[in-house]
Formats: sequence, structure tokens, C-alpha cells
Amino acid sequence: MLYPKQEHAIFYPRDSSGAIARFSFIEAATKTGKTVGCIAWLFEQALFAKDGNNFWWVAPVYKQAEIAFTRMKRAYPVGTFDANEGDLILKVVVSGAIIWFKSAEKPDNLYGEDVYAAVIDEASRMREESWHAIRSTLTATRGPCRFIGNVKGRKNWFYALARKAEHGEAGMAYFKILASDAVAAGVLADAEIQEAKRDLPEQVFRELYLAEPSDDGGNPFGLKAIAQCIAPMSSAAPRVWGWDLAKHVDWTVGTALDDAGRVCRHERFQLPWDATMNRIATTTGRVAALVDSTGVGDPILEMLQKNLGSKFEGYNFSSPSKQKLMEGLAVAIQQSTIKFPDGVIRSELEDFEYEYTRTGVRYSAPEGFHDDCVCSLALAVMHSSHARKPLVFSDEVMRWSAQR
Ligand SMILES: Nc1ncnc2c1ncn2[C@@H]1O[C@H](COP(=O)(O)OP(=O)(O)O)[C@@H](O)[C@H]1O
Ligand SMILES: [Mg+2]
Repeated sequence: MLYPKQEHAIFYPRDSSGAIARFSFIEAATKTGKTVGCIAWLFEQALFAKDGNNFWWVAPVYKQAEIAFTRMKRAYPVGTFDANEGDLILKVVVSGAIIWFKSAEKPDNLYGEDVYAAVIDEASRMREESWHAIRSTLTATRGPCRFIGNVKGRKNWFYALARKAEHGEAGMAYFKILASDAVAAGVLADAEIQEAKRDLPEQVFRELYLAEPSDDGGNPFGLKAIAQCIAPMSSAAPRVWGWDLAKHVDWTVGTALDDAGRVCRHERFQLPWDATMNRIATTTGRVAALVDSTGVGDPILEMLQKNLGSKFEGYNFSSPSKQKLMEGLAVAIQQSTIKFPDGVIRSELEDFEYEYTRTGVRYSAPEGFHDDCVCSLALAVMHSSHARKPLVFSDEVMRWSAQR
């Protein structure tokens, strides 16, 4: 049984005119029953659909899609659906409708089909391109969609659309579900909230349990500091290069800084290894360069170093060495000793977040997001003299660290 607020938000959302809303935006605290409520809703949509109609559950990464798939299977009796484990598909037996559980990691894989209803889980952690793709699949069917997630800063499409819905846009409904609502409904223990309050930095607690966005969205570099480093691409000569090599699905990125610490070259490509090496060698020439030498990077670095007159050095990424690299970059950004152009570098920096682990605070890109421009810039910064001052953590992190 869903509790009334869950039911209104997910099953019977109404827009400002009182009509049933096609799109419902639910900003909710963690563990308030967003996922479980939407599992019930999507299954019901598919139950009353026609043979072969498609329904989508979309999560930011595969693992989350798989969890929802497993939870839906457990929620309904054997015999009501046929499951395809490999593709995360459930076919509802009575209607013949098909429910797909998809990852949003590659937006291109989200185009194509006609979808009759969709759930976007963890919407604040999903890229905007993915939403655009999903939107296109709902056009021909005029299918409804439920958007559920925690709040995460103010700089994401979910936040922006939720504000539209909140301000009464036709066809859109907006709901906020707090941890206290779930406690009142008896599905969450108050003690758990008190524990989280004690253990988490205040801004993180506010986002996760009170659904109040923080100004910085938990960004370790600081959004203001990032903005202050924006300047047009310099046309001066490179003094140092940083190269981050493509691992499985990402890009090889090279960033060069000039004498004044301004980004003066930026390369981003996906090529076979031999072509990658040639391109790095010819682009860098005799300028000093720090290259990611992790894994497959090691033989590449060796070959680059065989070129006469080249000045390549390697940097091996481990968990601590990557943090050191990021801290150096944070110093340079907070003190505005580097400049970079608006665009992909900025957006990757803005997507970064603190990750709180048992051993301390780490900087990382959210799962499913790229960080190769950030790594490449950080390598260039480390190899130059722009990162040699002490790091200033935000008050929030200092307070949190002091409590440990
Ligand atoms: N109406 C409800 N009745 C009983 N249990 C619920 C209800 N809503 C949520 N729960 C339980 O609370 C827990 C958190 O729900 P979940 O949907 O995973 O939350 P969220 O997605 O908001 O983090 C789950 O164990 C779920 O079964
Ligand atoms: Mg959930």
C-alpha cells in the first residue's frame, strides 16, 4: 500500500488546472519510496496496455536499472510476467506489453522506439541528453512520465524542469516528499534520519533528507571559483601539456597551458592506439608533457619517450594519486591561477562532486559522467607551477573532517 502523498505524486498527479498531469516531477528525500511507488505505477501502466507496447524504466547507470528490474520481479507473482534476465526485460503476460530497464549512460541507445510510459529514476544524476532522447520516444504516444530523484544542486535539467512544474506549467505536476513524510507514514525510522544527520556534512544531509538543494551542488572546486577561471582560449605557445588517455568508453584529451597558466590548446578524440600515439607526439612536439601512464598508458608512454627530443613524463593513477592531482587542480581554480574556456572543460568541472567515504573526502565525477577533460587539465596543472600552494577546503568539509 502506498501512502497518500506517494500515491498522489505518482498515480494521480494534477497540474495547476486540476487536470491529470502527463509529467510528474518528484523531488524527494532518500528512502521515501520513490522507486517502489514508480515500480507499481509502471507495472500497472503495462498491465492495461496493448500487446507489444513498450514501457521504459531508465536509470543513470546499468547497475541501478538492474536493481529496479530485480525489485519489480520480486514485487509480482510468478506467472504474471516473463523475464529476460540478460536484457533486463519483463513481458507482462496478460497484456503482452514489454517493460525495459535501461541505463542512460549512452543517450544514443535511448532513441528509436515508441514508448507508452516511462520512469526516470535518479533524474538529478542523469545527463540532459538522456532526457532529450527519452522525450523523443514519448512524443508519438503522448506517453506519461514520472521523474524521481534527490535534489542535487541547482545546475541540472531536473531542477530546472521541477521549477517549471512547480510554477504551474500545464501538463506538469510537482511534488516534494521529505524524510519526515516517510516517517509519518511509518516506512522510515526517525532514528535513521538522526543518524544520517550526525554522520553527514550539513549540505549533504539537507539535499538527501530535506530535499533542499545546496548552492554549490556539493562541487569540490566551487561553482563561483570555476566561473572566475573562464577566459577565452589563449593563442600563446604551450608551455606544458597534460594528456589523459582513453580507457574503455571515454576520450583521449590533451590540454596545454601557456606561460600565464591559460589553456591555449585543447584536444579531444577517440582513435586506435597507434593513431592516438602519433597524434599526441606531433601535437606535443618538444613541450614538456605529463601523460596518464595507468594500465595501457604505460607502453604508450614508453613509446612516446623513444621519440628523440620528446619530454614525456608519466603519472600513474591510483586512488590517492588521483586525489592529489585533483587537489592541485582545486588550488589552481580556487586561486584563479589558471584560465580555461567555457564549454566541455567547465561542464565536466561543474559536474564533479564530493564523495564521502569512511576514510575521507574524495573528488569524483558522478557515475556515468566523463572526467577526462578534468584529468587532462589537472595533469597539465601538476606539471606546471600553478598548483604549489596549500589547498583551501570549504568550511563545510573542514567542519565535517573535524568531526571525524
Ligand atoms: N508505502 C510503503 N509501504 C511500505 N514500505 C514502503 C513504502 N514505500 C517505501 N517503502 C519501503 O521503503 C524503502 C525505501 O523505498 P525506495 O522506493 O527504495 O525509496 P527511494 O527510491 O525513495 O530511495 C524500501 O524498503 C521500500 O520497500
Ligand atoms: Mg530509489
